Amino acid sequence: MEKIYLDRNENNYGPAPKCLEIVQNATRDLFYQYSTDYKRGMKSILSGRLSEEFNIPEKRILLGYGAEDLLKQVVQSHLGKGEKLLVPDHSWWYYKEIANEVNGINIEYPLVEGKDSYHYDIEKLIDIYKSEKPDIAFISSPNNPTGNSIEPNDLLRVLDELKDCTVVLDEAYWLSSDNKLAANLVNKYPNLIIIRTFSKLYALAGIRIGYALVGENLNLLTKLSNRYLGYNRISQRIAIAALDSAEYYKDVANKMAEDRKLYFDEFNKFSGFKAYKSDANFVLVKMPKESMTPLNDFLKQRGIIIKFMNEELLNSHMRISLGTQEQNRVVIENVKEFLSVGIN
Ligand SMILES: Cc1ncc(COP(=O)(O)O)c(C=O)c1O
Repeated sequence: MEKIYLDRNENNYGPAPKCLEIVQNATRDLFYQYSTDYKRGMKSILSGRLSEEFNIPEKRILLGYGAEDLLKQVVQSHLGKGEKLLVPDHSWWYYKEIANEVNGINIEYPLVEGKDSYHYDIEKLIDIYKSEKPDIAFISSPNNPTGNSIEPNDLLRVLDELKDCTVVLDEAYWLSSDNKLAANLVNKYPNLIIIRTFSKLYALAGIRIGYALVGENLNLLTKLSNRYLGYNRISQRIAIAALDSAEYYKDVANKMAEDRKLYFDEFNKFSGFKAYKSDANFVLVKMPKESMTPLNDFLKQRGIIIKFMNEELLNSHMRISLGTQEQNRVVIENVKEFLSVGIN
C-alpha cells in the first residue's frame, strides 16, 4: 500500500517539471567544480536572481541550507548566553531549541484562539517586549502549527515598536508570489530579517534551500553567513527553475486554497471537531482527545499518516498537511468512515 504522508508539511504535488529537467540535464562540471558565481560580483546566481525578484541589493540576500539553517545562523550570531529570544507560545519547537543551544533564554508571547482561527495579540507582544527587552524576536507568518498570519497593519505596528532588537519574520509558509511587501519592509526596517524557503510552496524540501532578506543593520549576520567556496550549483539551478515556473505554482497555491476551505467546511461539520482557518499548506484541527489514538490507528492502517499533536498547549489537535486534491478527499472520506462506524 502506498502511504500518504501528511505529517511534515511537505508539498505532495512535487516540484515543477522544469526543476526535474535541471537534474536530468546536469553536466559533469556542476558536480566537480566549485561555483565561480563570485566572478559576476554575487555570491550565487540564485541570490542574484532573488535580488532581481525583490529589487533589493544582492548582498542583502542570504542563502542557507533551508530556512532552518538561517534561523540558526541568526540565533548563533545575535544571541549570547543568558540573552533573550521572544517567540510565539504556539510555534515550531525548533525556535526554542536553537536558543537553548546557545544557552539563551526563551520568552513566550501569546497567540490567541479566536472563533475560527488563531491570531497574534500584538499589544501583549509589545508589552512583553518592553518589559523583557529581548535581543531577538521571532514572528512566524503563517505560523506553524496554528496556520494564521500576522495582519499587515499589526506587523507594521510591531516593527515600529521593536526597534532595539533583531526581528525575524519567518515566512517559510508564504504561498503567494507577491514580493513587494517583503522588499518594502526590509528596506524600511534595518533590524528586520525575512526568511523564506523553497521547501513548502516550491515542493523542494529535499534540496535544502532557504533565503533571507536582511535589513541594513545586519552586517554581522551577512558576514558570518558568507560561504567562500560558493553554494550548491545544482540546487541553486533547481531553485531558479522553480522561480521560472510561476504558473505551475500559482495553480498549486490555488488548489491548496480550495482544499483549506474544504477541510475547514468538512471538519467543522463533525461533532466535537474544530478546524481553524489557515494561510499555510496545513490545517490545524481540534478534536476529542479520546478519539485521537483510535483515529490515528484507523488512518495508519489505511496508509494515511497525519501529525497528532502532543504539546503542552496543543494536545487535543491534529495538524494535517495538505496533500494533493485526490489525497485530501481520501482523508476526509476516511475520517467520515471512522466517525460513522463509531470507533470513537
Ligand atoms: C515555521 C517553519 N519555519 C521554517 C521551517 C524550515 O523549513 P526548511 O525546510 O526551509 O528548513 C519549517 C519546517 O517545517 C517551519 O515549520
